[in-house]
Amino acid sequence: MPSLKSLFGAGHQSNPTASGAAAADSPPLDPILISTRNIDKSYPVGNGQVFVLRRVTIDVKAGEFVSIMGPSGAGKSTLLSVIGMLDSAWTGEFWFVGHPVHTYSVKERVALNKQYIGFVFQQYHLIDDLTVAENLDIPLSYRNVKKSEREAMVADTLDRFNIVGKKDLYPRQLSGGQQQLVAVARAVIASPKLILADEPTGNLHSSQGAEIMELFTKLNQQGTTIIQVTHSETNAGYGNRIINLKDGWIV
Ligand SMILES: Nc1ncnc2c1ncn2[C@@H]1O[C@H](COP(=O)(O)OP(=O)(O)O)[C@@H](O)[C@H]1O
Ligand SMILES: [Mg+2]
Repeated sequence: MPSLKSLFGAGHQSNPTASGAAAADSPPLDPILISTRNIDKSYPVGNGQVFVLRRVTIDVKAGEFVSIMGPSGAGKSTLLSVIGMLDSAWTGEFWFVGHPVHTYSVKERVALNKQYIGFVFQQYHLIDDLTVAENLDIPLSYRNVKKSEREAMVADTLDRFNIVGKKDLYPRQLSGGQQQLVAVARAVIASPKLILADEPTGNLHSSQGAEIMELFTKLNQQGTTIIQVTHSETNAGYGNRIINLKDGWIV
């Protein structure tokens, strides 16, 4: 696959207020974006239950770039799903931009996800019966963006990720690495405030992986908060701190 090009050129404004003075009409940012308190999650097994998250208490400030690390089965994907409001079957408290998520309905959680979050799934989760271009349009369709602007943003993103030639293909017609690129492109296209990425470069060539990390670094410098799961010390090195998980515990 060709390498990515001009991922960080002008025109992709992640956060228009981050580079200059804050816009007068935007509310002051709460410095704490994410606060969890004693998050527990378990699955029933036989007569008992097995815990996959244990009393997970974390704070993430707006503008951080955090890496979650730990062995396979530690609960990393589970924790990312909880933070991404894709999983509601847990106990504890979770405050997101001041919202008490633990008191919210599933519908309210989904609305928060759509408003704030771009998610790169470990297994990509592209929509099988939509083309690459149609998959990229989905996050934009949640925003109040005109169709003509959406088409321009999709075209721009296809170009930046060097996948213009794939725009009319379906996910099954792509390699794993190509699907992962589309998954990253879909997560960033709508300039979300928070990017959650579960091993986002696991299937990429190392040079493409480095370009994705550089893209994340650039978006982070422009004000996007990023939490990634990674097994790679190199990738973790792009972030500002590491949260280590083991057997569901923060260690
Ligand atoms: N539906 C399920 N039923 C029982 N256990 C599950 C289920 N889904 C995940 N788990 C368990 O939860 C633990 C954490 O999984 P996961 O968050 O995917 O770990 P990681 O991403 O760190 O590899 C694993 O031990 C896994 O087997
Ligand atoms: Mg995982």
